[in-house]
Amino acid sequence: MHTEDAGLVDSAVNTVAPAVPAAALAVVDALVRQLCSRHAGRLPFHGWHHVSFVRAKAVRFAGANGAEVSVVETAALVHDVNYLVRRNSPAAAGGELRMDVLARAGVPAPTARRIDEIVNEAEMANRGPDISLEAQALSDADTLFKALPMTPVMLSHRYLAENGITLRELADKIVGEQQDVHDGGYYFYNPDAAAAYSRWAATNLMLWQHIRESLDDHDVAELLDAVTSLGIIGVPPARPTRSRPGR
Ligand SMILES: [Fe+2]
Repeated sequence: MHTEDAGLVDSAVNTVAPAVPAAALAVVDALVRQLCSRHAGRLPFHGWHHVSFVRAKAVRFAGANGAEVSVVETAALVHDVNYLVRRNSPAAAGGELRMDVLARAGVPAPTARRIDEIVNEAEMANRGPDISLEAQALSDADTLFKALPMTPVMLSHRYLAENGITLRELADKIVGEQQDVHDGGYYFYNPDAAAAYSRWAATNLMLWQHIRESLDDHDVAELLDAVTSLGIIGVPPARPTRSRPGR
């Protein structure tokens, strides 16, 4: 069953949230850009470059799977604000800031709550095989960013600096969160994304497995300590947070 009017019901298994008004979406965009710009030094990984990529891909995946595109787009814009609230935190840590941004933009409260749910549903550490279509679209976009061949080369050191963790901790996190998802066959939900990007994902996961294995070698661990002490990662340390935008 499919209804065009108001998009209340898309199928027997998925209830589509009401659309986000275009004016509200534009304000969410402006507020998140402002946050990312103001705190760019604290978001070397999850800054606007990440948000805008995830947003663009999430919109495409939502268009493909029939999810309400404006809801997915808005969720993508606010999905990582938790990194402004606390380093190395789960999406839920950004709930208050996320809801504040959505309220300030005029997103109706029920839709805002649904967007917050979608963000949590789509999180790699939590997601299962049967999440909503909106969460699937967001997840596929965010997962693709993780699986891009350039990400470990160009951005992983930024993740370490942003979140104050070691290479071993990041390898443990990636393998710990992604192996079961990969083995369970829902790394990507969109079949075209799975066909196009699964090789990248497998290569990425193997790289992080190998990083973890290599660090068990004492001499490699010493090498890593030596490289780290060179201070190559020139990213400012994170400061304690003020979590409210536009102030
Ligand atoms: Fe993200």
